[in-house]
Amino acid sequence: MKLEGRVALVTGAGSGLGREISCRLAREGARIAAVDLRPETAEETLGILSGDGHFACAVDVASGDAVREMVTQVDSEFGQIDILVNNAGVDRMPGDGSDKLLETGQQTIHMSDEGFTSLMAINVNGVFFCLRETLRVMQREERGGSIINMSSIAGLSPNGNVSYAASKAAVLGITRATAREQGRFGIRVNAICPGVIETPMTAGVPEPMLKPLIKATPLRRTGQPDDIASTALFLASDDSSFITGQWISPNGGLVMQ
Ligand SMILES: NC(=O)c1ccc[n+]([C@@H]2O[C@H](COP(=O)([O-])OP(=O)(O)OC[C@H]3O[C@@H](n4cnc5c(N)ncnc54)[C@H](O)[C@@H]3O)[C@@H](O)[C@H]2O)c1
Repeated sequence: MKLEGRVALVTGAGSGLGREISCRLAREGARIAAVDLRPETAEETLGILSGDGHFACAVDVASGDAVREMVTQVDSEFGQIDILVNNAGVDRMPGDGSDKLLETGQQTIHMSDEGFTSLMAINVNGVFFCLRETLRVMQREERGGSIINMSSIAGLSPNGNVSYAASKAAVLGITRATAREQGRFGIRVNAICPGVIETPMTAGVPEPMLKPLIKATPLRRTGQPDDIASTALFLASDDSSFITGQWISPNGGLVMQ
């Protein structure tokens, strides 16, 4: 097992990619701190993890205070955090213009202040708060660590709303800046930029939008959560011990850079 003796904190662990990643890391021997805005879903994830000694709690990652409290709880439970999967995120918020089709050219001008800033609060501030609080534990424990930030192909090329694209590009900036700063502590920081993956987030994407995307994808399919869990395991484990400040994009070839 690749992660025996390690503790992984996974945000957004109650659904989709976060749940699948939690399961994969647990199968490799990690103890999981599964956190989510909806505590009942984090508890459900706990119920399907292999091995013992896992922990679930609730957090709104958009709140610096709530994240500080959550990491304190995880720290007192385990006394170490070796892996952070900064995965919690949303692709739309009320007032973000997503009720207008992208093709109409009206999304951006219909995006309210609140629609833009509330998405950024979760996808960008949330990533930063979780990373900062986890780094405090990682630096104190002097065990090194691996931080995996969930970006998107929207951070690499034009995909999704302005707010979503901005948030996922910001995640790449956070990844590189902290990778440079934290390398001296043996803490690696990388990002995953998934393509279209079948999760509750993408379940509502209408068929007419999905079909051309699959056609434009060289591997001719959408991704499965397992495709992302494999990438997360690679970045979490010592198999990637000389990799930091990078992104990997499991996207079937839809975006090539
Ligand atoms: N599914 C895709 O195609 C895809 C593609 C690229 C990137 N991503 C990214 O992957 C991550 C996971 O997406 P998913 O597809 O599993 O979505 P999902 O909607 O299935 O899961 C997201 C999880 O994040 C949690 N969450 C939302 N806001 C939160 C908050 N404020 N605090 C704590 N938890 C919160 C939700 O409760 C949910 O459990 C997101 O960051 C998303 O942007 C997904």
